[in-house]
Formats: sequence, C-alpha cells, structure tokens
Amino acid sequence: MRSAYDLTSPSYDESLTLVTRGTPMGELLRRYWHPVGLVEDATQTPRQIRVLGEDLILFRDHAGRPGLLHPRCAHRGASLLYGRTEERGIRCCYHGWLFDVDGNCLEQPCEPNGGGRACAKVQQPAYPVEELYGLIFAYLGPLDRKPVLPRYNVLEELGPGEFIEADDTSIGSGGPVIVPCNWLQHYENVMDPFHVPILHGSFSGVQFNERMGLMPKVRFEESPRGIQSTQIRDLGEGKVHRRITEAVLPTIRAVASPRATVDGPCSLLGWVLPIDDTSFRIYSAGRVTQAGTLRTIRSHFNGKLWQELTEAEHRDFPGDYEAQVSQGPITLHSEEHLVSSDRGIGMLRRLYREQVKRVAEGGDPIGTAFADEAGLVALAAGTEVVADAAHG
Ligand code: FES
Ligand SMILES: [Fe+2]
Repeated sequence: MRSAYDLTSPSYDESLTLVTRGTPMGELLRRYWHPVGLVEDATQTPRQIRVLGEDLILFRDHAGRPGLLHPRCAHRGASLLYGRTEERGIRCCYHGWLFDVDGNCLEQPCEPNGGGRACAKVQQPAYPVEELYGLIFAYLGPLDRKPVLPRYNVLEELGPGEFIEADDTSIGSGGPVIVPCNWLQHYENVMDPFHVPILHGSFSGVQFNERMGLMPKVRFEESPRGIQSTQIRDLGEGKVHRRITEAVLPTIRAVASPRATVDGPCSLLGWVLPIDDTSFRIYSAGRVTQAGTLRTIRSHFNGKLWQELTEAEHRDFPGDYEAQVSQGPITLHSEEHLVSSDRGIGMLRRLYREQVKRVAEGGDPIGTAFADEAGLVALAAGTEVVADAAHG
C-alpha cells in the first residue's frame, strides 16, 4: 500500500501551464492570434476583458474600428473602462485625453492648443486586433514577430446555403462558459480519444451516439500544425468509421461533432482561450445553414443541460467539466502515471516544450506564417466511412 500520508510535495509543470507574460508558455502563446470576443462585443461602450492574465479594454470607435487598449491611461492611470468612445477613438474620463485604436494620443484638452507636440509623442499601450469569422482576434506578442491571422479551409469552403456562425458559450467545455481550471487540462483532452467510450459512452449513459461508444483503434501523429489522432471504429460488414481530430497549436480544437450522423470535413473550430492560469473559455466558429445552430450543440446528461443538474446529478452523470475541473485548478503533473493510451497527451506536451524552446532561442513557433498567401491552413479533421482495407 502507498499511504496518502506520503503525498508530500505534489507539483505542476509551470512551463506548460502558466500564461502570463514572461513565463515560457505565456511567451509561446503570445506568438499567435487569440479570439478575445465576438465581433458584437466590441461596441461604443468600453468593456473590460481578461486574456492571458492581462486586463484590457475592448471598444469600437464611432468609425467602426475595434480597439484593444491597456486599461491604465497613459496620463495618470485612470481606467479607460470609464472612457467615452468617439469618431476617432476613446477619451479618458479624467482629463479627456483622446486615444485612437492604435493608442496614438490625439488630444490633451487641458493643455494649451490641445497638447501640441508632446501629445503626438504619447502612446497608450495597445494590441492589434482583426475581425474574422464573427470573432475579434488579438495579438498580444512582440510586434516585430506578428504572424498573419490564419484562415482555415473548413471555414472558407462553404457548401450550398452555409454561412459562418460564431459562439462564445464554450462549446465542448462540458460545463459553464468560464471553466475554473487551467486551460491545458482541457486542451490536452482533445488528444485523449480513449476517454470517449468511458466518460461519454458508459459512465453517463450514451452522451453522444452509439458509434462513438465503440472503443477505437487510434493512431497519433505530428502534423505541420500540431498533433492529430486518427480513430478507427469497426462498423462491421467490411466498413470502418474513420475520425480525424486535430490539436492545432496554440489552442485550436478541430474536432468533428461527436453527435454528427452525417460524415464530412470538420464543421466547427474551437479556440481555447486562457483567461488566466486557472480559468479558460472557448470561442467557436462553425459552418451552419441556420442561425442559432451552434447554441444548440450542448451535451445533455440524464436528459438535462449541465446548468440544470442538481449536485447529486453532477455526481451521478459526470462529463468533461467534472472530470477536468476535479483534476484541480492546475493538475499535479508530478502525481500522474502516464500509460500507452496517454501517448497523444505525451506528444502534445513534447511539442509544446519544443516550441517553448524555439521561441526562447529566437525562432518562430510551428504554424506561424508571415505572408498572406501562406495564411490559409488546410485541416485534415473530419469523419468518413471507408472500406476496412482502406483505412491503413
Ligand atoms: S488620467 Fe487619463 S487623461 Fe488624465
Ligand atoms: Fe470529452
């Protein structure tokens, strides 16, 4: 017997989990674009958001440009949360300095002539933002290493009647919008197909469909973007179901809906956004033919939505939220016992460590592109039914 009394100093791997500026993973994450809101979250009313442990002010000037500024006014530090938006930017509530979306100071109304040359020199710290797929993406890293904002084939090639819908409710978290644990323990679950038949296929009844309840044969491999798994499920009569899932660095989930009964390229991408070290949320964008479709993609447990469950039902019908949040605010890597079915997790962690090192040595991490034409990413994720002999 190993006594629990001997559990003395459990620890987590800081270099894989912590997201603030200056930490190894924080610096890696800052070399990519992250969604920080829906397009409609940037309005003429400034809003405070939290991203990678930083508090920021998101707004839209009256000319329609979104802006993301550091909250402390460059004058004497009043928060721009209380600012007022105008045609040309946002005006601080305290002494009225006006900043545009790039942080340039345009006016200092308490100064002679509105500030003159001194005004032109002041820069309110800002981050670049771009709008795509109904989301606002921000780049929080060094400006001279800013990659192009990637586009994805599965969101660019639309079928008849299809359009892109964005969602901010954390589809795939298995729980509420803001999940109170480290982002990585959710994200590495993307490379954990073996939990599907257990957690989702037997513990809580059949949460997805019968097909997903079959134990798959799985192959993991590195892709030019991250790690991917190919899951083969034997359907009998010489046919197999082939499902490819991708973890695309830094935090993108390319996971075909486990509920879908129609096969094809993955129709939904999710971006896991670390809010800070111990909470995250997921923004998504997907191809749909009807507005409001993404909102309906929610797991049911015992026929109910997660929010509707009683304490006892959460215990009796656990899902991803219960499994992952119960690992702790940041899971204790020193206490884990990784086995062969954790191969995908091991590969993902190894890839992160390599990329952290690459950035520390002055390089650019996997999947970053610096010319527009290189910004289109072709994903392999999706599902297919193929002849047994062909699945390889
Ligand atoms: S503190 Fe913002 S204008 Fe003075
Ligand atoms: Fe899951």
